[in-house]
Amino acid sequence: MGRLVVVSNRIAPPDDKKASAGGLAVGVLGALKATGGLWFGWSGEIGNEDQPLQKVTRGNITWASFNLSEKDHEEYYSQFSNAVLWPAFHYRLDLVKFQREAWEGYSRVNALLADKLLPLIKEDDILWIHDYHLLPFASELRKRGVNNRIGFFLHIPFPTPEIFNALPPHEELLEQLCDYDLLGFQTDSDRVSFLDSLSSKTRVATREGKSHTAWGKTFRTEVYPIGIEPEEIEKQASGPLPPKLAQLKNELKNVKNIFSVERLDYSKGLPERFLAFEALLEKYPEHHGKIRYTQIAPTSRGEVQAYQDIRHQLETEAGRINGRYGQLGWTPLYYLNQHFDRKILMQVFRYADVGLVTPLRDGMNLVAKEYVAAQDPADPGVLVLSQFAGAANELTSALLVNPYDRDDVANALDRALKMSLTERISRHSEMMKVIRENDIDRWQARFIADLKQISPRTVESNLQKKVATFPKLA
Ligand code: F6P
Repeated sequence: MGRLVVVSNRIAPPDDKKASAGGLAVGVLGALKATGGLWFGWSGEIGNEDQPLQKVTRGNITWASFNLSEKDHEEYYSQFSNAVLWPAFHYRLDLVKFQREAWEGYSRVNALLADKLLPLIKEDDILWIHDYHLLPFASELRKRGVNNRIGFFLHIPFPTPEIFNALPPHEELLEQLCDYDLLGFQTDSDRVSFLDSLSSKTRVATREGKSHTAWGKTFRTEVYPIGIEPEEIEKQASGPLPPKLAQLKNELKNVKNIFSVERLDYSKGLPERFLAFEALLEKYPEHHGKIRYTQIAPTSRGEVQAYQDIRHQLETEAGRINGRYGQLGWTPLYYLNQHFDRKILMQVFRYADVGLVTPLRDGMNLVAKEYVAAQDPADPGVLVLSQFAGAANELTSALLVNPYDRDDVANALDRALKMSLTERISRHSEMMKVIRENDIDRWQARFIADLKQISPRTVESNLQKKVATFPKLA
C-alpha cells in the first residue's frame, strides 16, 4: 500500500506548536505517521501564488504548502468558503452572501490546487481531503486523470435539502462530491441530509445502505465522529499550574466557575448564551456574588462582515449584563476576545465547575469532549451541551439543552451548579467511556481502513461511468 496524501485548507507544520494542537491535526498526523506521506495545504500566507511549494520533511512525512494571491484568498476563502458555504451549512441562509465571482474563484482555486498537487501524487497513494473548502477537489483531480482512491471528510454539518438546494451551484457541488470514493460525515443526520439532497436532484442507486451510484459515479458514505486524545488532555489539565493561574484559582476558591471557549463565530450561539446567563441571574438570585462566567472567544475570520457584527454585539451585551447585575467587588461575566495557549485552557477547564457549550449548530464540537476529558474524575464539573452539536449524539450524559431557549439553558446551569458529587461522577464516567472508545486514533484508523477497502478506479471504470450516467430528474 502506498503513502497517504492529506489535503486540507490549513495544515499544521511540524514547527508551528500553535497549529499542531487541534483534533484534526492530531488525527491527520497519527494517520500520516502510520503510512508515511504528504500533507498539502495553504501556508496561511497571502502573497505570490506562483512561488514553488514550500516543503518541510520530518521522518516519513512531508508538509507542502502554497501561498494564495489576495484575490484568490478573498474569493475562495473569505467569500465562497466562509460567507456562503459556512453560513449555509450551519443553517444561516440569512447570512449567505452569494456572488458569482466568489463561486468562480472557489472553483478556480480548487483547480489550481489540483494542478499543484498533481506532480506529487504517486500511483498507489491514497488521498484524504478535508472540509468544505475542497468540495470540488476530487472532481478536479479526476479531470486530470487521477484514479487513486480519494476520501473526503466533512468537519461541519451537512444541511437538509431545503437549505443546501438554496445555494445556486448546489447541483454542481453535489455532482463534484460524487467523484470521491468515500464521503465521511460527523453524524448520521449529516450523511442522510447529503443523500436527501442528492436524491432530490438525481436518481441514486444504493446497495447495502452505504454504497451509492449517482450520475454514473459510485461512492460510499459513512459516519466517523471525530474524537480527541483523552490521555494527552488529562496530562495537560492535571499538570502543575503556572503561578498566575494558581493565584487566580486560590482567589476564586469560593466562587463557582462557568467556563466557555470557542472561536468568535455566529454558529456558536454566543449572544444567545449571554442572554441565557442573564436569565440565570434573573431567575436564580441566590447565585448573585457566588458565580463567575468566563467566555473566551478569540476573533476569527475578522475580514468577513458577519464576524465583525457578532463581535460588536457581544461587546455590547457583556457590558449591558455586567452593568445591570454587577456589584462593587463582583463582575458576573468576563468576556475575553483573546487567544490562549491550549495547555492553559485545559488547566482552566479542570477547575471550571460548569463547561457551557451551546452552539446553534456544530459539526462535532471538540471543546465539549476536551472539557470532559480535562476534569478530575474524583470531583468533575458538569457539561451543559447544545443538542445541536454533533457531540450531543455521543455525550448523552451531559445536560443537553436547546440553545435557542434561554430558560432551558438557565435552568440547566442552575441544575449544574447545584448537582451532587455522586451525580457528577456518574455522568462524567459515562461520558469518558464514550470519549475513550471513540478517540482520535479510532477516527482516523476507521476512515483509512474503509478507504483502503475500496477498489481503485481504473481508466475503464471511469469510461463506463460516463456511459452509465443516469438521466437527471426533472
Ligand atoms: O470547523 C471547521 C474548521 O475548518 C476547523 O477544522 C478549524 O478549527 C476551523 O474551522 C478554523 O477555521 P479557519 O481556518 O477559517 O480559521
